[in-house]
Amino acid sequence: MRSIVQNKVEECLEILKWDKTKWIDFWRELRRKFGPIVPNYERKLELNDEKIEKILWEIERRELDRFKWDWLDVSRNKKIECAESLSEREDFLDLKREDFSVFLMSLLGLSDWVVVDGEKEKIVVMDVFSLWRKGLLRELSLATLHAVIEFRKGKEIGNYGGKKEYFDSLLKEIEKILKRGKEALGDLCEFLRNHVSYYDWVGFYFVEDGKLKLGPFVGEPTEHVEIPFGVGICGQAAEREETFVVQDVSKETNYLSCSPKTKAEIVVPIFKDGKIIGELDIDSYSPSPFSEEDRAFLEKVCELVSKVV
Ligand code: SME
Repeated sequence: MRSIVQNKVEECLEILKWDKTKWIDFWRELRRKFGPIVPNYERKLELNDEKIEKILWEIERRELDRFKWDWLDVSRNKKIECAESLSEREDFLDLKREDFSVFLMSLLGLSDWVVVDGEKEKIVVMDVFSLWRKGLLRELSLATLHAVIEFRKGKEIGNYGGKKEYFDSLLKEIEKILKRGKEALGDLCEFLRNHVSYYDWVGFYFVEDGKLKLGPFVGEPTEHVEIPFGVGICGQAAEREETFVVQDVSKETNYLSCSPKTKAEIVVPIFKDGKIIGELDIDSYSPSPFSEEDRAFLEKVCELVSKVV
């Protein structure tokens, strides 16, 4: 099977072996090595040798060196995470067309992602250095999914502004989806799964006869169609009436496993007139993926859902 994500960062970071006065010569080598990608990247960003030399000169060796160490720490996992999160969304991203690949590179730090013509297909170039500079290396798989979604919409250059900005843009779409009322909950699950690289099982449970009953969901089928209050992560969140975040499910004793692939889970209650009426449950195949931004975003989603159920 072809590998949809390729890691070229280390090859780009060979620049660190060169004397800084010769960095432009290294860039010329990169241009030859990654033709037509690098020349097309320059064209898209309207760069010439003079501009490139100036930008390279302004990048401190120290900074690039720090980036290199941070990258080497996480590169293998990040590459796998990016590739798996795209493959898991194969239909939504129309991967069968095989008309693009993603290259993880370290370029000039000007734009987080740029789409260029490769030899046979389009290449979504992620400038990992650019993301790292903004402190967003951790979010590489979300930034990559965002870039691919934008590429599918016809955009060829862009930036990723972090989870808060990204989630705010998703909330606008979610408001539109929910205009169709509770019939749209299945589509909402699909939307959340497709747009967040580490939301792998997304579903609703609703309170019925004092228990949680499974509602619309996307992801692997689950045997947990009915959960008593207090049992599992879902039951505990219902009992305590608060959001429950488990970054590592293997450490949770009161847990009902839905898939061996699940590494983390977040459960957010839905309230109506001050009473819990259900919850949104999300499983992730990535380790420790949830942050305060996820909590705030999903609590907002549940407020919107509560208005239509
Ligand atoms: N893991 C949940 C059960 C639901 S499945 O993840 C879909 C729990 O511990 O409550």
